[in-house]
Amino acid sequence: MDKIVIQGGKPLRGEMTISGAKNAALPILAATLLSPEPQHLKNVPKLVDITTIKRLLEKIGASITEEDNGCTIQIKNIENNEAPYSWVKTMRATILVLGPLLARCGEAHVSLPGGCAIGARPIQLHLTGLKKMGAEITIEHGMIHAKAAKLKGASIYLEAPTVTGTENLMMAATLAEGTTILENAACEPEITDLAHYLNACGAQIIGAGSDRIIIHGVPSLSGTTYEVMPDRIEAGTFMLAASITLGDLHLKNLRPSDMVSIIEKLREIGSKIVEEKDSLRVIGKEIHAVDLKTLPYPGLPTDMQAQFMALMSVADGSSVITETIFESRFNHCAELRRMGAQIKVEGNHAMIKGVPYLSGAPVMASDLRASASLILAGLVAQDETEVLRIYHLDRGYEAIEQKLSQVGASIQRLKGTA
Ligand code: EPU
Repeated sequence: MDKIVIQGGKPLRGEMTISGAKNAALPILAATLLSPEPQHLKNVPKLVDITTIKRLLEKIGASITEEDNGCTIQIKNIENNEAPYSWVKTMRATILVLGPLLARCGEAHVSLPGGCAIGARPIQLHLTGLKKMGAEITIEHGMIHAKAAKLKGASIYLEAPTVTGTENLMMAATLAEGTTILENAACEPEITDLAHYLNACGAQIIGAGSDRIIIHGVPSLSGTTYEVMPDRIEAGTFMLAASITLGDLHLKNLRPSDMVSIIEKLREIGSKIVEEKDSLRVIGKEIHAVDLKTLPYPGLPTDMQAQFMALMSVADGSSVITETIFESRFNHCAELRRMGAQIKVEGNHAMIKGVPYLSGAPVMASDLRASASLILAGLVAQDETEVLRIYHLDRGYEAIEQKLSQVGASIQRLKGTA
């Protein structure tokens, strides 16, 4: 397995370009199942998770042509309506094929995902919503079997604003008979991006980005050309890289309006941020301790919690980070402690007493965002940090070591060494 080796202590300076958003590209790729026409997608990031969903779509019947910065995908016929455990265990987001497969061909068989490092991650709200739309759902031997000759529009209240649940139901509802109303829907920008893509194909979705989404079913969807939104979590991670190294980064191809909670928190911490239409400049100046709490959008994303923990580890003072979305998303704390961070965890609160410096150490990534947190810690730590198990990182950050070394980090990937 590869590992990443970092010599810390170098302020990052220069320009970086943000890639397309993993969590927007995944549902958009799943949504290509809804139409037999060719779909031209641009700004699709080169990530392991994206390759996983593409390979699954090929098993289902897709033909995919890779292009510079995107792909053309066409699913003329559904040849196989199954996503077995071998796929779902590699990536939970494969559950996103359930709604569109069911809507397109009246039947879908998708393995039930289990928990993962960050929590139990139930999906009962996806299933309850599909049942409300008339699907017959059974679970046997770990497989979800869903059937509905024709889905029917329904009024669905989501007990929790689930992101992939909202996406699954929104996709299914586009081809349903009648109107579906999703109440207490998730409002994340990736959901709005999916709705824009679907509307470009002829869907009639109103209100995506709010907690009430109305979907008028249409008989079929056409092909389109669509550019995936920029990755606000990759951008946020690099903003923190500028802050933690007291550097100066100009991040291009992003949407500051999607990142208000991150921008405001970093200003409170002491970074200077200059916003432009589709770029941001972050100048790290001081690192003051501030309390943080993760919340559904527009609150501070849980996908940025681990990275903020690295930053607070070297802050001037003490802070409390409260995780409200996932029940065990503090796996990075033990690894940060190995680098000298002073962190105490009680329930869903982490108490962090900032230290003047971290010291490089071999550390182990436990999930995608925990890996990013360890990279940030390594960038500021004295001497050498080795981050092991970086396959997690490759799921969600495109060419991270190249991007960071271009702005002055001493970082390299060693192949097959750990
Ligand atoms: N929930 C339920 N029941 C359900 C579904 C969710 O109670 O049926 C609860 C969960 O237990 C959790 C909360 O709702 O407490 C939010 O979970 P959600 O379903 O929104 O998470 P997700 O859709 O599985 C997506 C992202 C995650 C991101 C979360 C929260 C994708 C592919 N994944 O997951 O991204 O952390 O939303 O914003 O979009 C990552 O990229 O590193 C990542 C984990």
